[in-house]
Amino acid sequence: MTSVATNDLNTVKRAFNFSAGPGVVPEEVIRRTQEDLWSLFGSGVGVLEHSHRGKEFDRVLEEAIADCRRVGNIPDNYQVMFLQGGATSQCYQVPMAFLAEGETADYFHTGKWASDSLAEAKRFGHVHIAGSSEETSFDRIPDDADVTYSANPKYVHFTSNNTIMGTEWHRMPKSPPGDAWFVCDASSDIFSRPIDVTKYGFIYAGGQKNLGPAGTVLVIVRDDILEKQVRDLPWMLDYQLQAKKQSRYNTPPTFGIYLMGQVFKWIEEQGGLAEIEKINQAKAKVVYDTLDSLDFYKPHAREIDRSMMNITFNTPSDELNKKFIAEADEQGLVNLKGHRSIGGMRASMYNAFPHAGAEALASFMKDFAQQNG
Ligand SMILES: Cc1ncc(COP(=O)(O)O)c(C=O)c1O
Repeated sequence: MTSVATNDLNTVKRAFNFSAGPGVVPEEVIRRTQEDLWSLFGSGVGVLEHSHRGKEFDRVLEEAIADCRRVGNIPDNYQVMFLQGGATSQCYQVPMAFLAEGETADYFHTGKWASDSLAEAKRFGHVHIAGSSEETSFDRIPDDADVTYSANPKYVHFTSNNTIMGTEWHRMPKSPPGDAWFVCDASSDIFSRPIDVTKYGFIYAGGQKNLGPAGTVLVIVRDDILEKQVRDLPWMLDYQLQAKKQSRYNTPPTFGIYLMGQVFKWIEEQGGLAEIEKINQAKAKVVYDTLDSLDFYKPHAREIDRSMMNITFNTPSDELNKKFIAEADEQGLVNLKGHRSIGGMRASMYNAFPHAGAEALASFMKDFAQQNG
């Protein structure tokens, strides 16, 4: 196990956790949460135990929304919501709400989550593939020159970071025709770098990578889009209703909202998204430079499309991959196994992942290559 600080409640040392999600939560947030689980705002009642209509939770929710707005520089004409069902529910909720029968939405096919999104959309309307990297095992983001939009898409969906493949959009997709708006699944890179929210109509992100809690989904949506719902939706799936009720149509995921709120505060304490980006770039560089410097590993992603969050690579054989994962694990570098669909290794280094972990992995990679090359 690698040594990381402990406190009174925590006597077990923490490993360097490369999990793709749920992923690392900032240690400061974990400590604050431990206290608030016992008693929130000096109330003598823990955060899990407060009514979602009480004044303590009012404060939690208001602060979470306000902090999220500040961190993401989110304009007033966007709603911030905390919904349930994970990012996967947004795969169907978005087309159910906005894609009428007979209408077309454009999707970028860049990996498993993009593929799930477009499959769900087909239940409600037509889907046009605007760009795909399927032919090259999803090793890239489609070049603008290869993108073809349909004549009149309702919206254009893309996955800003492909968690499994280790590719990421480092630019916006090219502008779509008409008044189509961008829908973005930002689950695995939300708030890892500055974001210009005004370029999007609808952003969603499951919490368990950069925001803390699994199950709770952050949704950021422009007001005028809320007016464009095309179906009479069940209450829980009605974005307009959820916005009106501040995500509290029913009992919301109170702990998830609390935890996201703490993570927003932590991001601000780090200096905001511009600083977070620098920290993330430095971590990713340590590992990518090591990959590139050794004639042993094979990175999966095309260089210009490499993800800052999820680094995917292979050794020369499956046998060595297994050995790499097992030996790394013994050294406290855990959860490096790649997704079953592409195998190999995946080092996920989200916002809260420490720089020392990237250094430790790089050092391990060098030793491993030397011993097994
Ligand atoms: C980019 C992306 N989208 C969607 C999902 C699905 O999220 P959830 O499990 O919260 O439904 C994931 C999960 O890893 C993801 O990485």
